[in-house]
Amino acid sequence: MLGFPGLGQLKDPGKTGQGDKTEEGGPAIPAELPILPLKNTAVLPLTVLPLAVQKPRSVRLVDDVVVADRMVALVALKNPDAEEPGPQDAYGMGTAAIIHRMARAPDGTVHIIVQGLERVRITEFTQTEPYMRGKVEAAPDVLEEGVEMEALVRSTVELFRRLVGLSAYLPEEVVSNTLNTEDPRQLAYLVATSTRMEMATRQEILELDRVSDKLRKLIAVLSREVDVLELGKKIQTDVQSGMEKVQREYVLREQLKAIKKELGEEDEQAVEVRELRQKIEAAGMPEEAKKEALREVERLSSLPTAAAEYSVIRTYLGWLTDLPWQVNTKDKLDISAARRVLDEDHHDLERIKERILEYLAVRKLRQERAQAGTEAMQAVDHIRREREGVILCFVGPPGVGKTSLGQSIARALGRQFIRQSLGGVHDEAEIRGHRRTYIGAMPGRIIQAIRRVGSRNPVFMLDEVDKIGNDFRGDPSSALLEVLDPEQNREFRDNYLDVPFDLSQVMFITTANVLDTIPAPLRDRMEILQLSGYAEDEKVAIATNYLIPRQVRENGLRADEVTFEEGALRRIIREYTREAGVRELERQIGMVCRKVATHVAEGTAQHAAVSAEAVPDYLGKAPYYYEVVERTQIPGVATGLAWTPAGGDILFIEATKMKGHQGFTLTGQLGEVMRESAQAALSYVRSKAKELGIDEEALAHLDIHLHVPAGAVPKDGPSAGVAMATALASLLKNVPVQGELGMTGEITLRGQVLPVGGIKEKVLAAHRAGLKVVCLPRRNERDLSELPEDVRNDMKFVLVDRVEQVFDVAFGNSEGHKGAQIQTEQKQPGRQGENGMASG
Ligand SMILES: Nc1ncnc2c1ncn2[C@@H]1O[C@H](COP(=O)(O)OP(=O)(O)O)[C@@H](O)[C@H]1O
Ligand SMILES: [Mg+2]
Repeated sequence: MLGFPGLGQLKDPGKTGQGDKTEEGGPAIPAELPILPLKNTAVLPLTVLPLAVQKPRSVRLVDDVVVADRMVALVALKNPDAEEPGPQDAYGMGTAAIIHRMARAPDGTVHIIVQGLERVRITEFTQTEPYMRGKVEAAPDVLEEGVEMEALVRSTVELFRRLVGLSAYLPEEVVSNTLNTEDPRQLAYLVATSTRMEMATRQEILELDRVSDKLRKLIAVLSREVDVLELGKKIQTDVQSGMEKVQREYVLREQLKAIKKELGEEDEQAVEVRELRQKIEAAGMPEEAKKEALREVERLSSLPTAAAEYSVIRTYLGWLTDLPWQVNTKDKLDISAARRVLDEDHHDLERIKERILEYLAVRKLRQERAQAGTEAMQAVDHIRREREGVILCFVGPPGVGKTSLGQSIARALGRQFIRQSLGGVHDEAEIRGHRRTYIGAMPGRIIQAIRRVGSRNPVFMLDEVDKIGNDFRGDPSSALLEVLDPEQNREFRDNYLDVPFDLSQVMFITTANVLDTIPAPLRDRMEILQLSGYAEDEKVAIATNYLIPRQVRENGLRADEVTFEEGALRRIIREYTREAGVRELERQIGMVCRKVATHVAEGTAQHAAVSAEAVPDYLGKAPYYYEVVERTQIPGVATGLAWTPAGGDILFIEATKMKGHQGFTLTGQLGEVMRESAQAALSYVRSKAKELGIDEEALAHLDIHLHVPAGAVPKDGPSAGVAMATALASLLKNVPVQGELGMTGEITLRGQVLPVGGIKEKVLAAHRAGLKVVCLPRRNERDLSELPEDVRNDMKFVLVDRVEQVFDVAFGNSEGHKGAQIQTEQKQPGRQGENGMASG
């Protein structure tokens, strides 16, 4: 039994309970007891617990009990928030207990130590005032013995042990006390008291009759608690180890710094700063750049490496130190070697090649004189002034070799090559860069390219200068002017670098499809070298000598593994391409080579000789065929010749009539000049109606509509005048135009034909389109000499002074017989298909 000293001596409750053990048959439990409601706990039998009592009613109860038998029933509340808990708030089962000690705190709270004795069921509440009393009935637990009980006990002990290992909230005494007990019943109650659980669970354990059930419930609670704690611990260690790593690294780094300092070595930042200084010294920058660079290094060394500005400055210094301030490639100035290189890369283009060689010869001379001495230098100063300012500009349709000529020049000189397309460059900053104050600022394209090739004297091709834009973002062409001007480009100032860079050693070359969209000040700096489209024979030669060998190589074939018959090449040129240059041709040849390469790789063929008949096997159905004859079968359609930035092209002029009052409609996005020339054509045809055999009476009651198809493409210029007059005459005479006739020429109101430009491109286009006869203004006769021989031999040219001469050819008055003959001679797939359909 427990011996309890007098009241008012509250000792450590833990100590008090230690080693106490209630034996069976403790003090007898009276039939009626005062009932002390417990707010947030349940006191279990065979356990000792300190309690604080605050409510006046409860204090009164304690006061009364301690002067009597000290026995009380402790009952947990179902509803802990009840203000004045009554019978309905209490559970029906509680624990009979003895109050061992009592101490009153200054604030009126009474601390007691209670010892649970036995479960009691409250059968009836006998009073509620001044505190509750009730009739009680002892409810002893049911304790079975046996293996199962032993197992349950062991599991409970084991789990509790683990729990204790994991948690810090259990006092050691309680633990050893609990683990030392041999009574399963006491074990259950002690563990239940010591383990964190819901009030309701603890009550449930109290209410279970069998000790084994109590233990089972406990095991469940314990397992969960252990799991939660273990998980928590794991999370904690994970977090901790992560933090420790960072901390450790930090500490180590600091130590390293200290050690390095001790050893007289530098930290990373110091190393970086020192290396940058060395690079600046080695870069050979001009004075201003070097000063700026050293100033920035100074700033860098005083910034913490983590600062955002640190990396900005480092990037800037990277640009400064990486630029080839002094790096030049040595020029190869052997003119005959240069000639060889140009010939190796390009077929013909004699005039252009000559000009390039001349240009190189002047450079060579200048360099030699410069080495010979300043006096001689002065003697050639005029050459220098004259030549240095000149920038070559290759103008011509796409795919005629403008870009690749630039590459050849670089190769001939042994210089690096840069190609920078200016197509769609709208913003000055693209050329000249953004100021460093912008976030993510970068140098412009010029400086970027120079850094990339790593020399300051590359051949720099500014491709497509005619496509340079100009809008609210500033005018890139003014920046370009500065780049190209030898007076200024010695000190070219990129916005990002903000120090001058010398571009005077760069050899700039420009290209364009058309001249008129190049800003005039730019054009004035350039020497224009015109390249025109190729005729079929030239294309065959280029393909044979350049394109095929290159495509064979690029597709991993040997020269003997694929051959193209000439007929095949011509078929590809005629039916699979429609271009002034040879770009598409090269692509088609590449496609054939890939197919052959596949066959060779698969082992299905060792060699392919591509014939004209086999072309569709490689390239599929031909996308182009001669549509001219078909289009001009009805009256009112004439074939004009046009000049476009992509080379020449044919242009159908369509006229149609309807009832009306001499109205005239023009469609097809025609420009002002072209509309006027259409008006002139109509006026002329009207005025000559009689001579042309047109019903004048009918003319008065007609509306006429003239349309130039491909309506999305803007067209302008006077050179379609003859074709428009012919279309109108054909419409009104109701006689179709001879099918293989093309024409160009300006027309006056009196029917004179005036010369026009672009004859070579136009005739080449007519040739490509399969036309056989071309009417040209007589005054363009001398342009015919520019045409390749095969074209001249293939076609018939009619030189005219007056539009009636065109009509004669068109409507067969004098040339009719010949025209008809030509028509029957023509063989081409489109027409054959047409005939087949017509007869079928
Ligand atoms: N006269 C030529 N001789 C050999 N190859 C040529 C010739 N003209 C053009 N090419 C080739 O045609 C292709 C397209 O030429 P490219 O220089 O890109 O044309 P562009 O710059 O005029 O549009 C290149 O592979 C080029 O080598
Ligand atoms: Mg090009």
